[in-house]
Amino acid sequence: MKKNSVLNSTNSLYHPDKSVTKHARIKEYDKLYKESITDREGFWSKEAKGLHWYQKWDKVLDDSNKPFYKWFTGGKTNVIANAIDRHLLTETKNKLALIWEGEPGDMKTFSYFALGREVSKFANVLKAMGAKKGDIITIYMPQIPEIIIAMLACAKIGAVHSVVYGGFSVEALAERIADAHSRILITADGGFRRGKPTQLKAIADEAMRRSPTIDVCIAVRRTGEECYMENDRDFWWHDLMGMPIASSKCETEQTDAEDPLFILYTSGTTGKPKGLLHTHGGYSVYASTTFKYVFDIQPADRWWCAADPGWITGHSYIVYAPLMNGATTLLYEGAPNHPYPNRWWQMIEKYGVNIFYTSPTAIRGLMRYGASWADKHDLSSLRLMGSVGEPINPEAWKWYYDVIGKGHCPIMDTWWQTETGGFMITPLPITPLKPGSATKPFFGNEVAVVDEAGKAVPAGAEGNLVIKNPWPGMARTILGDPDQFIEKYWKHYKKQGWYLTGDSAKVDKDGYFWIIGRNDDVLKVSGYRLGSAEIESALVSHPAITEAAAIGLPDSLKGNIIHATVILREGFAPSDALVEELKKHVDNELGPIARPAHIEFAEKLPKTRSGKIMRRVLKARALGQEEGDLTTLEE
Ligand code: PRX
Repeated sequence: MKKNSVLNSTNSLYHPDKSVTKHARIKEYDKLYKESITDREGFWSKEAKGLHWYQKWDKVLDDSNKPFYKWFTGGKTNVIANAIDRHLLTETKNKLALIWEGEPGDMKTFSYFALGREVSKFANVLKAMGAKKGDIITIYMPQIPEIIIAMLACAKIGAVHSVVYGGFSVEALAERIADAHSRILITADGGFRRGKPTQLKAIADEAMRRSPTIDVCIAVRRTGEECYMENDRDFWWHDLMGMPIASSKCETEQTDAEDPLFILYTSGTTGKPKGLLHTHGGYSVYASTTFKYVFDIQPADRWWCAADPGWITGHSYIVYAPLMNGATTLLYEGAPNHPYPNRWWQMIEKYGVNIFYTSPTAIRGLMRYGASWADKHDLSSLRLMGSVGEPINPEAWKWYYDVIGKGHCPIMDTWWQTETGGFMITPLPITPLKPGSATKPFFGNEVAVVDEAGKAVPAGAEGNLVIKNPWPGMARTILGDPDQFIEKYWKHYKKQGWYLTGDSAKVDKDGYFWIIGRNDDVLKVSGYRLGSAEIESALVSHPAITEAAAIGLPDSLKGNIIHATVILREGFAPSDALVEELKKHVDNELGPIARPAHIEFAEKLPKTRSGKIMRRVLKARALGQEEGDLTTLEE
């Protein structure tokens, strides 16, 4: 792939060369795209036919109760029928499904057969523990194979998993367990991070104390560190898996297309995280189709998505889409720069990874150490690469492209969200690329950048990013709060029936989309999604704080860093020690990813007359900029 054409003075076009396009399933975008939006249901029905259904659907799209769309109604399937069962009937049976490497360098592999066996065994354990179809089971685990086995086992019996990212802490976990009314929690004693064991079980214990719905907790022994086990509540995974209850024969539950597969909590603009619900049918079709066309997976490929299974990226593109496509997926437990910044490049060489998918923050972090760490390794197995989670700046894009991809691996900059289930705006391997642009909509999607009234903004102008149509991978609702689902996503453009993404973006004159970032009170820190309100409520749960405001400030490494302004209760005085204590408090409550970089003490917060914090004003102040229109300021 060479920089063989220049589109205009600002945007170089990078054209994929033949070594990549010769594989590509899609040879031409425009015509297929047009067809896919002209006959959306026809497009999705054709894709769905590529999956296994116990019973075919009656209707592709049921839009009788907008915005609660339903897909493939009347159909019966189970994501496991496609991710495991059907492969056991073909030569994929003995292919590697999962390669796992632990941070200390330990390794395990599972063929589809072996993965299927472990999933069946654990599914039987769950049943023996009283799990039933429709129960929500919370999973709080490090990046070990058992997290994948646990997710798949839930799906197999028709239970609904709610994975809480292993980097979250006590209150975040407790809140999610309570919201889901989970009876069963699956966890581990800990994991390894930068050479040290983490203490997941201790966090889980405190969360279970705060949120007492759990009566069965199953823990994997990973670190071997001492940990508390409560009689009749806590069980070791390996003990249960060694018992006769863990038979390797288990029928996959035949779920309805619209039966829930998982809940995944994500931060929104309120303090309470939203449990987005995804289903067996539509999600399976959407995740597998996007993966197949965008990353062009071939039978001999090794795929590595270096995300955590605890986020949507991991759900869709470490676990479900690769397995549905019969691919070999890699999972790595540790940090990219431990013990040295060549850890990832070493893994690519060692396992012969062909397609690699990561975040801009990770790329920027590794770029800081220079090219020599990557240059030590043979990265010639790479064919395609990807980026997700936040906008990638052209400098990082070019480093990734030149230093890691050696100038011949196109970068699939995929824009999507927890809510969307899979890629929404993304290149295909044949798409001419512009560094920093997620390029064009995936098939079936009409995407636009509009003003508040819904009018398309001119090319190059900023506006709200909206999706004009339903798609099979869309979240169906917010668990227990359908009104909020309407309020957050569908009310803004109710008349038009469009989905509001919460992002601002631009479209250029070639129809390429450029994501600018969130335009609500959601922060993207190192690609992680956090709500201002969540950080604020963690801060005010400290006895010294009466009010707090959290904002994001631009950062060249993390995209954004958290800046908090706090008001002290009477009797407390500002000090460096208190700042440290507050940061630690946020670590303990929410997790280290939510730790503010700066905490500033103030007497008052700028508020509107109706009492809303004007975060815009705080941001301008922190950046030393003009404070803008202050007419709504309280005083
Ligand atoms: O702001 C966008 C950003 O991540 C948000 C969704 O976050 P989350 O639900 O955690 O899912 C992340 C992984 C899919 C979006 O609203 N975002 C995601 N991908 C990109 C992006 N921003 C720019 N470019 C991307 N490729």
